[in-house]
Amino acid sequence: MREPVKIAIILGTRPEIIKMAPVIRELEKRQENYFILHTGQHYSYNLDRVFFEQLRLPSARYNLEVGSGSHAEQTGKILVGVEKVLREEEPDLVLIEGDTNSILAGALAAVKLHIKVGHVEAGLRSYDRNMPEEINRILADHCSAFLFAPTEKAKAILKSEGIPEEKIFMTGNTIVDAIYQNLEIARGSANTISALGLKPQEYFLVTIHRQENVDNRARFASILEGLDRVAAEFETPVIYPIHPHSRKRMAEFNLKPRNLTLIDPVDFLSFLQLESSARLILTDSGGVQEEACILSVPCVTLRDNTERPETLEVGSNILAGVSPDKIVECSKAMLGREKNWENPFGDGTAGRKIVEILESVA
Ligand code: UD1
Ligand code: UDP
Repeated sequence: MREPVKIAIILGTRPEIIKMAPVIRELEKRQENYFILHTGQHYSYNLDRVFFEQLRLPSARYNLEVGSGSHAEQTGKILVGVEKVLREEEPDLVLIEGDTNSILAGALAAVKLHIKVGHVEAGLRSYDRNMPEEINRILADHCSAFLFAPTEKAKAILKSEGIPEEKIFMTGNTIVDAIYQNLEIARGSANTISALGLKPQEYFLVTIHRQENVDNRARFASILEGLDRVAAEFETPVIYPIHPHSRKRMAEFNLKPRNLTLIDPVDFLSFLQLESSARLILTDSGGVQEEACILSVPCVTLRDNTERPETLEVGSNILAGVSPDKIVECSKAMLGREKNWENPFGDGTAGRKIVEILESVA
């Protein structure tokens, strides 16, 4: 019999909570020895606690409460806080997911204490090093002993960077598990669409929060102008659950979109409802590009590149950049596209596979 392994799950933001949930559920089911260390990077109720409650996740054993700050400040505080907890708890393995400052600091603190790191959603690359997430994911991958690649493409990228094949495991993306586990529940729960006065297939859904888009007045203004034009051209309501950072920048830059309905960020089940019945999704989010693809909803990505090229290849997604003309043109193209693509992100068993791999090799 193998020695029981003690696992520390480090997370800190909305997408990590959602995408780590299937792994946590599997660890619970198998009564594995693990605990959650929350960095506190996200702390607003609707970016954090709501997901623990709704996905019925066990509370974090630790919350470092680092909050917001510059990259160095935030990453530095997490590094120091994580090291302290890891010294106390002495886990055998640290599990991280995605590409935020929380997971970079978690990986770095662990690897320097000679604790093995497992990276869920490894091998994604936008090849744009101006994005903080690109730096985070490259460094996290190269700190890791177990790399859980969501697709063959991600696996090939890791190999091309010299990471030995025996460290890489192709598991699919845990977002598929999260969708499959929650879509039916979402359909049966309070109807967010009608509460907003909308009808299925008669609205567009938007999210924009990437730093390179919303921290630059010209880019943010250009995107909002494009979205205003899309709403007018297609005479369709456009709903934008707005990240608090984007709302702050919108006010600072005095930007006032004419045709968008802004609402506060919503819980996961409500967001799944909004996504699955939208006629079109326009976004700069990584996770939302995947979800649109899995839910068979056409997507326009408001960026110049994507680390989810699989979505472009299967035809569920298009890169529009930020020019208003291009946003309208790409929306038209995607509305005319047949929604017959295959989901390239796996069959909804990534969480189980990841835990089985850890049980056999960690
Ligand atoms: C972070 C990640 C990003 C991820 C996103 C998920 C980094 C570098 N960025 O971006 O990759 O896509 O999370 O949503 O790790 N704020 C609140 N409440 C909160 C958290 C933040 O109001 O709970 C506001 C604050 O004004 C803060 C700003 O949002 O300054 C930015 O927060 P931060 O955690 O630095 O980055 P995100 O934009 O959330
Ligand atoms: N999401 C949500 N409510 C919202 C907006 C997004 O629950 O109002 C979920 C969405 O379903 C996806 C995740 O948040 O799973 C994406 O997070 P985000 O766009 O913040 O980060 P990224 O994926 O770009 O890192």
